[in-house]
Amino acid sequence: MSNIVTVHEVGLRDGLQNQPKHVPTQGKIEILNALIASGITSIEATSFVSPKAVPQMADATDLYSRLPSDDSIHFEALVPNEKGYELAVNAGAKTIALVLASTNTMNRKNINMTLDHALNVNINVIGRAKAEGVRARSYISTALHCPYEGEVKPSIVFDIAEKLHSAGADELVIADTTGGGNPAQVKSIFNTLINKYGSKILAAHFHDTRGMGLVLAWTALECGIRKFDSSIGGLGGCPFAPGATGNLATEDLVFMLNESGYKTGVNIEKLKNAIKVAQSYVDQPLGGKITKWLDSQQ
Ligand code: COA
Ligand code: ZN
Repeated sequence: MSNIVTVHEVGLRDGLQNQPKHVPTQGKIEILNALIASGITSIEATSFVSPKAVPQMADATDLYSRLPSDDSIHFEALVPNEKGYELAVNAGAKTIALVLASTNTMNRKNINMTLDHALNVNINVIGRAKAEGVRARSYISTALHCPYEGEVKPSIVFDIAEKLHSAGADELVIADTTGGGNPAQVKSIFNTLINKYGSKILAAHFHDTRGMGLVLAWTALECGIRKFDSSIGGLGGCPFAPGATGNLATEDLVFMLNESGYKTGVNIEKLKNAIKVAQSYVDQPLGGKITKWLDSQQ
């Protein structure tokens, strides 16, 4: 089993979408450059969503036009529907992230669609992406716990995963959007999905709401997952998922992996600088569990 792990940074989208203070496009670019300088090579840059729903992402087209043209850095954009897909591809996106929640209520609150409608939209967009040479990552969000409907039955997640996989999704990302999941669920879901599809097509997205982000990531890692979402300084929270706080902090994830002999390619000292840059743009105090200790090691 490979010891190379991809750390996929989602702070610029999942992290910033919930910030009350407006972050200018130039600020996003500065955060992004600091992340790249630390060795991060995979970044969710923004989302092409209704600016009324998420005003922080209203500059998506402008941001995309200012991304560094370095082929070794993989950028992606979240899209909720066909319009978002078209805007993203026109702006130059080569990878899109589609989002489908596991429950009806969450889809309604997040993208104003029923689960069935959203599934059809996702399948159509995956079809278009495949035809047009665009890579499609398919998120199954609220996969462990829904803030409106409670614990999610694994059979629902497996059913959705099968439909997205058959449609041709290049990657399936299991997202614990609220941080309401537990390690036993993570183990059982990933073991089943890995048996079906292999680990290479799978990734994990955790939030640290209940302080379990790292243990959930370690559990998925032991199952064989080698790609994880995280956000700089633990920025984050979904405006449509009440109670959800930040993502698993990138520095916590990177520290745990580097210390354990996995290769992330990310330099923790340089990551500290990226946290400082992000901190200068938001009012929320940033930092993962490791931050205090890291700061004491001057
Ligand atoms: N990007 C930008 N604008 C979009 C859009 C997109 N992907 N999709 C729709 N719009 C615009 C429409 O053109 C329309 O504009 P108008 O009011 O100026 O005419 C408006 O948004 C409403 O369009 P409609 O198709 O009726 O959408 P809706 O009101 O049912 O909202 C979504 C559906 C999906 C657009 C909206 O709920 C959304 O953007 N959700 C994203 C939520 C999110 O980002 N969650 C966090 C990530 S998981
Ligand atoms: Zn999230």
